[in-house]
Amino acid sequence: MNDDVRTNGIPFVPVARLGDIPVGEGRTYAVGDRLVAVFFDGISYAAIDDICPHMGASLGSGPLRDGAVTCPWHAWRFRLSDGVWSDSSQLKVDVFDVRIVGDTIEVRVPPAPPIELPQRP
Ligand code: FES
Repeated sequence: MNDDVRTNGIPFVPVARLGDIPVGEGRTYAVGDRLVAVFFDGISYAAIDDICPHMGASLGSGPLRDGAVTCPWHAWRFRLSDGVWSDSSQLKVDVFDVRIVGDTIEVRVPPAPPIELPQRP
């Protein structure tokens, strides 16, 4: 889906203040019906879906190094720039827009996509 279509009309919402997230770490925030992991590398902020697609660990509690977060449960790594899993580009987590307004960190998070159930034969 085109990113402009996906985020059209979705407002940025404040989640934290500058200084709330230590360098090299993330924090998890509830935004609408989703959990969002926001990371700070010392220069900029990045936001991804907090839920690891392997078994559901909170990615926001994993360490950030070299632009990727390591899942705290089984060490799968996800690139913050595009959400891609380091072992296969076939799997990725959602990446969200982040902006700084004054001393506030804001994210723009579309609603979770509908769950697709397998079709019966
Ligand atoms: S739950 Fe994240 S790697 Fe297993």
